Amino acid sequence: MTDMRRSERHDVLERPAAAKAAAADKPLLYLVAGARPNFMKIAPLVRALRADGRFDHRIVHTGQHYDREMSEVFFEELDIPPPDYNLEAGGGSHAEQTAKVMIAFEKVCLAHRPDWVLVVGDVNSTLACSLVAKKLNIRVAHIEAGLRSRDLRMPEEINRMATDAIADFLFATEPAGIANLLREGHAKEQMMFVGNVMIDNLMFQLAKLEAMDRSAMASTAIKQRLRPGYGVVTLHRPSNVDDAETLRGVLAALDRVSERLPLVFPVHPRTAGSFDRFGARPGPKVVLTPPLSYMDFLNLWKDARLVLTDSGGLQEETTALGIPCVTLRENTERPITVDQGTNIVVGVDGSRIVEACEDILDHGGKRGRRPDLWDGRAAERIVEAMARLVAP
Ligand code: UD1
Repeated sequence: MTDMRRSERHDVLERPAAAKAAAADKPLLYLVAGARPNFMKIAPLVRALRADGRFDHRIVHTGQHYDREMSEVFFEELDIPPPDYNLEAGGGSHAEQTAKVMIAFEKVCLAHRPDWVLVVGDVNSTLACSLVAKKLNIRVAHIEAGLRSRDLRMPEEINRMATDAIADFLFATEPAGIANLLREGHAKEQMMFVGNVMIDNLMFQLAKLEAMDRSAMASTAIKQRLRPGYGVVTLHRPSNVDDAETLRGVLAALDRVSERLPLVFPVHPRTAGSFDRFGARPGPKVVLTPPLSYMDFLNLWKDARLVLTDSGGLQEETTALGIPCVTLRENTERPITVDQGTNIVVGVDGSRIVEACEDILDHGGKRGRRPDLWDGRAAERIVEAMARLVAP
């Protein structure tokens, strides 16, 4: 067994620092990140764990996202060290991707056997690593637990439900998450409303952005070109971009909005693939860019007149900064962004999209308020709770 473990350990990319023996007196946590939105969510946790000092931790990057602009660039800007492990398990179908992450993550768990695995969000890596850890009898905490769209056609909804079903502890970003978990039969003692690590990161990076020289940023040039105002678009959900007719309908609506307000659209690799496959492109008043780094993108959307998106994280971030958000989906798993924030969920019907944007341009859009505990300190609360959970 020992020999097998030793040889297996050479199959995963391990940085030398990761190989160091875990501090004997400190509980070891693995922080899992796989896809772009995960990196922003683990960054505040890494910072809080370092400041706290009671835990040993390792960053495990599953490699679900692998292009430099979808992955590495975020680590550089987030002020966190590069991952201790890179499982390089990106690409492929859902089954292939999930299976590849599981096989590689099991080796990393066997190599050092963490006390807890912390998973964030709802991507395939979140579920894959939760399954592996639980089968090895390692405890799992899920950060951003309890969110539900009730739409099982979304792969993320399956990932959320399955992860929550087996996790040992559940950290929620909004009260609806707690209500959903209670309804599903989880015990009150197993969950905690802690706020939103995504917003911790937003506040951290906004402060950094405001203090830095932004003159050379791609977003700065775009902003100057599009004075006096612009909107921002992101689109990458399979339900929106994998179907030619839906994508064409959304692009036609964007073209209509862009007659009044130029739009900037950083294009996700999945969406770029669909543009090529379907020969579909928006018109000239929609400025396409490659995916932007977190800072460049923040510099862009924080001054936008409105944001059109199908992203989960951006619905929350726009609420935190009070920017009107038009969500191009039929539902949201983040209802607080609608009830208290600046979000409206309009679906993909062209006339509804255009009407929503015109209303914002004519009347300024919803004011909204920042939800409770979205105060930049969620990661600290999580670390404090983890300290209680590992206490003998
Ligand atoms: C994934 C998440 C989604 C999240 C999104 C953020 C799941 C089920 N979905 O969706 O919840 O909102 O990330 O971006 O986990 N690709 C590249 N380079 C990369 C990454 C992806 O070219 O660095 C291309 C590949 O062709 C890949 C495709 O994009 O197959 C889709 O990537 P994948 O990670 O499967 O799903 P996303 O659409 O990015």
